[in-house]
Amino acid sequence: MSDDFTTNETGIPVESDQFSLSVGPDGPILLQDNYLMEKMARFNRERVPERVVHAKGAGAYGTFEVTNDVSQFTMADVFQPGRRTQMLARFSTVAGEQGSPDTWRDPRGFALKFFTQQGVYAMVGNNTPIFFMRDPSKFQDFIRSQKRSLRGALRDNDMQWDYWTLSPESAHQVTYLLGDRGIPKTYRNMNGYSSHTYMWVNAAGHKTWVKYHFKSDQGVDHLTDAEAAAMAGEDADFHRRDLLDAIEHGEHPSWTLYVQLIPYEDAADYRFNIFDVTKTVPHADYPLTEVGRMTLHTVPEDYFVHIEQAAFDPSDLVPGVGPSPDKMLQARLFSYADTHRYRIGVNYTDLPPNRAQNEIRSYGKDGSMRFYPPNVARPYAPNSYGGPTADEERFNHPAGWTVESAEIVRAAYTLHADDDDFGQAGALVREVMDDAARERLVGNVTRHLLNGVSAPIRERALEYWRNVDRATGDAVAAGVERS
Ligand code: HEM
Repeated sequence: MSDDFTTNETGIPVESDQFSLSVGPDGPILLQDNYLMEKMARFNRERVPERVVHAKGAGAYGTFEVTNDVSQFTMADVFQPGRRTQMLARFSTVAGEQGSPDTWRDPRGFALKFFTQQGVYAMVGNNTPIFFMRDPSKFQDFIRSQKRSLRGALRDNDMQWDYWTLSPESAHQVTYLLGDRGIPKTYRNMNGYSSHTYMWVNAAGHKTWVKYHFKSDQGVDHLTDAEAAAMAGEDADFHRRDLLDAIEHGEHPSWTLYVQLIPYEDAADYRFNIFDVTKTVPHADYPLTEVGRMTLHTVPEDYFVHIEQAAFDPSDLVPGVGPSPDKMLQARLFSYADTHRYRIGVNYTDLPPNRAQNEIRSYGKDGSMRFYPPNVARPYAPNSYGGPTADEERFNHPAGWTVESAEIVRAAYTLHADDDDFGQAGALVREVMDDAARERLVGNVTRHLLNGVSAPIRERALEYWRNVDRATGDAVAAGVERS
């Protein structure tokens, strides 16, 4: 008799993993083989729906440590001098499904959560500092244009360029995407950005707008189209494997967090609308201030438990950090918790990667798969029998910005002095990229346009690129013409 015996899910020893219970060696199997029934039923239920976007990813636990005193700008516990906070990071592609190759061209997700003394704080960003649109009602259409066609369920460049060229505000992000950032060499070789502007509030209630930049300490690097295509065949999980191998070999990747701090009053008259997520804020105007460093050191023992069930939510904002009037961010504050409740259940905050490490004193109760009783005597507030009370002082993060009374409308943001759709994209091509990077951009766009894009949409795309940068547009046109 072995001490190391198998049990079923309720701890009862099992007889065999080799043979089902049958009526004689050649007879039918019996329903009373409860272990066999359990194995089949569990197997049928192994999958939860994959994330509707960012389905393929990799993640690890780590530590965030503060290296510079920014307490004059934020009271958030995680950013106080000397603080070290446990955290979880998940990196991902956007449009591909669970099994899709890591090296397909796509923005990369850069999702973080910090288990702070004041609850879970999440920063759910990308490896690019901007996004494809500025109004959330366009997000669903955009994603459908990047995923699969109705007939044949194929990825379809014609859909992608159709959408992009009809949405000129996408130009800045598309320029990043078709440039080197569109295929990072590894997850370790990319930066992460909040993209949105957030609000920091200090202990005295003073407010500052803030943008986050996590700079890779490994350096930023990319794969070319050809390298990425070869790697997609050789190892579809290349980025996932690289992160795992590096951490297991003790090469713990790290990122230094810098912020751009924008005085609260500056937002109104600054030359760009800092709440428009298609825009960056030039460092010449608001330079980077160091905050701290995150280091990833632990690959969780079970991918499904800790990474597939990880739920990152931009509305997880702790005292000292608040949202901004960015319409995309406002929509995301609803969307993520909603999708988590659908994908992994209403009690997703109880799951190991999501459970706060400080004490939870919530009146929330019941629901499917509830593990923990609420830490309260009566399930309602206020009550006369003790229990926690909401405390404005403790939250201390003034509700936010001032909204002038105005008519309810459906409208674009008011334009600031230098706001337009193509200006920053053009500056990225002319001022940030060098000749070799510009050449790669032209090659990437040309190949993309030659791969299943119809003639009228290709024409529109050439116009789009000429609007970004005349020389780039002409070079792409010449490349298309030659082929
Ligand atoms: C994932 C919605 C814009 C970064 C997701 C998911 C949804 C979603 C529903 C799946 C979440 C899950 O199942 O766990 C939206 C909507 C947006 C938007 C409605 C705009 C209105 C953005 C932007 C960024 C971003 C602007 C980056 C700045 C991410 C990341 C993930 C994600 C990194 C993956 C999180 C993870 O690793 O689990 N988004 N998104 N999204 N989104 Fe967005």
